[in-house]
Amino acid sequence: MTEYGELIQQAAHVLRGARHPAVLTGAGVSQESGVPTFREALDGLWAQYDPEELATPMAFQRNPKLVWDWYAHRRALLGAVQPNPAHLALARLEQRFSSLRIITQNVDDLHEQAGSTHIIHLHGNIARSKCVANCQGNPTLIDLTTLDPADDETPPKCPHCGEFVRPDVVWFHEVLPAHAIQDATAAAQRCDVMLVVGTSGLVSPASTLPHLAKQHGATIIEINPAASTISPIADIKLTGPAGLLLPQLVEVLDVEA
Ligand code: OAD
Repeated sequence: MTEYGELIQQAAHVLRGARHPAVLTGAGVSQESGVPTFREALDGLWAQYDPEELATPMAFQRNPKLVWDWYAHRRALLGAVQPNPAHLALARLEQRFSSLRIITQNVDDLHEQAGSTHIIHLHGNIARSKCVANCQGNPTLIDLTTLDPADDETPPKCPHCGEFVRPDVVWFHEVLPAHAIQDATAAAQRCDVMLVVGTSGLVSPASTLPHLAKQHGATIIEINPAASTISPIADIKLTGPAGLLLPQLVEVLDVEA
């Protein structure tokens, strides 16, 4: 076992004593998979847009094709990527702590691909699409592979009601899925350690969860190469990429089981 930093040892010691760890992840945990963070996805022709022009109900109402095409661009970027060592380390952590909950702001499914099973998607899942009117109930998911391939209009139309189909993700100014908020809040209140990995902490209510956990007595361990709005309340701050630090943390845990 190579020598790990003192802070990794401290974080492993805290985790070793945990009974209900929770993890909050953001775009940074997928960054080493080659998934651009939310704000980096605005590259090339998309650089001219502000995220809030592309990820809002108003933007979709104003220009449904533009918004649909941006999500198709992001889905294409996601189609080519794999879970990285950070996702895999979190899946290993779940093997040690069966009550581990991963609360993610990410709309990719890399935690699932890595083998994690208890995942709360606060902001939805870009691989899923739904009727904009949720005509059959909330959400009315639409399997794009069942639509008429001859109809290549974008966005596609809901086969039930003819309204547009949209990505099943949470846009700015939209409320989060009630069940996701309930589950995430319960996990934050219940946890005794919260790992906060790869999030700038700029978007609420996700960014309130570490504060809630801390108020309920949890130890906060942040993993991020940069500072974030969560850093001031972190008990242990591991500065660096999650793809390097999380495997180290889990390895120290496993070795000194
Ligand atoms: P951001 O793009 O705001 O922040 C990414 C964070 O990851 C930053 O703090 C980086 O320092 C950090 N980071 C970058 N590379 C990393 C690495 N290799 N390991 C660990 N951390 C790394 O993404 P989020 O905080 O996830 O909301 O943004 C939250 C929300 O903002 C997104 O879910 C989206 C957007 O509005 C919705 O779509 C509703």
